[in-house]
Amino acid sequence: MGHVSVISEPISIRDEIFFAQSEPEVSLDWDEFDILKVSNNHLAQNNIICAARKETACGAFDFLRTRMMQVMKEKKWNRIGITSPTEGCGKTFISANLSITLARGLVNRVLLLDMNLKKPGLEKIFTTDKNRSMANYLAGTLDPKNFFFRVMPNLMVGLNNDPVSESTEILQDAQTSATLDKIQTSLAPDLTVIDMPSLLTCDDAISCFSHLDGVIMVVEGGKTTKAEIRCAEKLMTDRVPLLGVVLNRSKGKCAMVG
Ligand SMILES: Nc1ncnc2c1ncn2[C@@H]1O[C@H](COP(=O)(O)OP(=O)(O)O)[C@@H](O)[C@H]1O
Ligand SMILES: [Mg+2]
Repeated sequence: MGHVSVISEPISIRDEIFFAQSEPEVSLDWDEFDILKVSNNHLAQNNIICAARKETACGAFDFLRTRMMQVMKEKKWNRIGITSPTEGCGKTFISANLSITLARGLVNRVLLLDMNLKKPGLEKIFTTDKNRSMANYLAGTLDPKNFFFRVMPNLMVGLNNDPVSESTEILQDAQTSATLDKIQTSLAPDLTVIDMPSLLTCDDAISCFSHLDGVIMVVEGGKTTKAEIRCAEKLMTDRVPLLGVVLNRSKGKCAMVG
């Protein structure tokens, strides 16, 4: 298991808060959503180490959770995206492990959404036998009770096992903002973690920015280049606050970034 380290102070935090403007929505009782238990074996096979807490890397997630919550509470933020310069750096790995760690303490209700519409990853981890189309959910055509389920009493997930090609249009659609705003009222999560597309592969990550309070960027030790990090940071500048950078698979060494 590669190391995970948080290697930067929160930087370029903006003062604006993107609070949702939406029609009031009926509040939904979390206890009415199914809990689909995933075996610790399956989770471990998918490198979701924070469920069983046997790996020492869990300490890094505890640290990330604490640092993140300090900033989120101070800024009164509740929607955070996990992105990376390119695919395969560990966005889904970090999103899932961090969400489990958050749901274990400090945060009452965590909502984890797969918004990597072209290349979803969370459905492999939190398997489901039903069709779960994030695109249809965002379009407002699905009942939340037929779409979301819980994997822990206070961890709700919105998966996608129906990848789409017209993802940029969906992410930029006003209906997507309205649906995300409704979730905030109806499910009232204390924190939403969004597994995002990567920054340098297409426009999708940029299209997500307007739905977020801030982002965490995952870079992969030995793979992500300085040029990629610079490019990725440039794309975020003046668009979304960067909470911090996580060095994944670091093999014990910490490189300064940014
Ligand atoms: N620190 C790590 N240790 C072990 N396996 C990892 C680590 N980070 C990522 N992986 C594995 O690498 C693969 C790619 O990671 P993933 O999170 O799917 O990347 P992304 O979502 O950025 O495309 C997955 O199989 C994931 O479980
Ligand atoms: Mg992924």
